[in-house]
Amino acid sequence: MIRFGSLELKSNLFLSPLAGYTNLPFRLVVREIGGVDLCTTDLVNARSLIERNRKALKLIETNAQDRPLAVQLFGSVPEEMRDAALYLESLGVSSVDINMGCPVKKVCRVGGGSAMMTELDRTAHLVRTMVHALRIPVTAKMRLGWDDENLTAPELVRALEDAGVAAVFIHGRTREQGFSGGVSLEGIRRVVAAARNIPVIGNGDVTTPEAARVMMETTGCAGVSVGRGAFYDPWIFVRTRHHLDTGELLPEPSFAERVRIMTRHLDRMVEVFGEELGCVMFRKVAPWYSKCFGPASGFNKRVVHLRSRAEFDELLAEYQRWRAPFCDETGELLPRYRPAPMVPSFLQADAEDEPASVRRTAIPVPRGPVEVW
Ligand SMILES: Cc1cc2nc3c(=O)[nH]c(=O)nc-3n(C[C@H](O)[C@H](O)[C@H](O)COP(=O)(O)O)c2cc1C
Repeated sequence: MIRFGSLELKSNLFLSPLAGYTNLPFRLVVREIGGVDLCTTDLVNARSLIERNRKALKLIETNAQDRPLAVQLFGSVPEEMRDAALYLESLGVSSVDINMGCPVKKVCRVGGGSAMMTELDRTAHLVRTMVHALRIPVTAKMRLGWDDENLTAPELVRALEDAGVAAVFIHGRTREQGFSGGVSLEGIRRVVAAARNIPVIGNGDVTTPEAARVMMETTGCAGVSVGRGAFYDPWIFVRTRHHLDTGELLPEPSFAERVRIMTRHLDRMVEVFGEELGCVMFRKVAPWYSKCFGPASGFNKRVVHLRSRAEFDELLAEYQRWRAPFCDETGELLPRYRPAPMVPSFLQADAEDEPASVRRTAIPVPRGPVEVW
């Protein structure tokens, strides 16, 4: 259905890297629900991987069900990036994604203009060094540019394509924007137009199946990659696949299905990280699921102190009893308690006839190094 060089993929929907979240348990959860094929790990430091650092090795932990898998590497020394990528190739990883610093960052810092091409050349050299050594495809993930005056992604994409990257993931915001402001479909469209033969995958604020369709139709991108939207709603891929194929919208999963998958997620966390650490890590996962539960304050308060798998069953049973009065006889929330629908930044104009209080426009960004995202 879509190709990244020699890699043939069954879906043009992708899981974006979310450092601290897109670990093996979560990838297994989204794969089991379906609709996605290539999933990406959290960002991994190339040098740490070469040194076989324990934490870096944990970040690339995978299994036979977790295929095809892309590992995202971060680093600026070509030989280190190459050697880390060769190691990944020897482990059976399907592709390597490069976390790409914006090429004009240095330029903006020093206020000069001439470093830009140098930086671009350096980036192209790094990619070439990797591509020449590897059999698996190399992809790159970037933003539109540093700020509105420096939308350099189209130029960078051309240079990267010449250097041999097999696909590009483009987050439709600038570095200066961080995560605020809207995703620019026009910016993504320009990047799509700049690429000659390689697929460009759009990214940013895809939180509903319609948003994925609109991003593809408006920009001509070959697929979309979903980050926070998948954490908020792991069913987004399967529902988007159906929407793209048929034009229909599948109903949202039931509360019982959400609870089943959330519990499965915890079980995977315990399998991969052990009960103690798995439960501690799950404290920041469960509140993402509960955003779709309707009233959930009691659940959130208890789950952020979770210590054991047995405690989870207890608190879940207690929560289900507490939640019953907010539901109809089938166990679904009465309409007045249902969470407001999600409206992605680039579709907000279409939703202006709805009062702002009944739509949700953004998924919160957890704390972390936005600089490299
Ligand atoms: C918590 C968090 C961690 C992220 N970690 C990474 C990362 O490791 N590498 C990367 O390229 N982008 C990272 N990103 C950016 C996402 O991959 C994605 O480009 C961005 O969130 C926009 O897409 P979304 O609206 O679908 O989340 C991160 C974003 C968030 C919120």
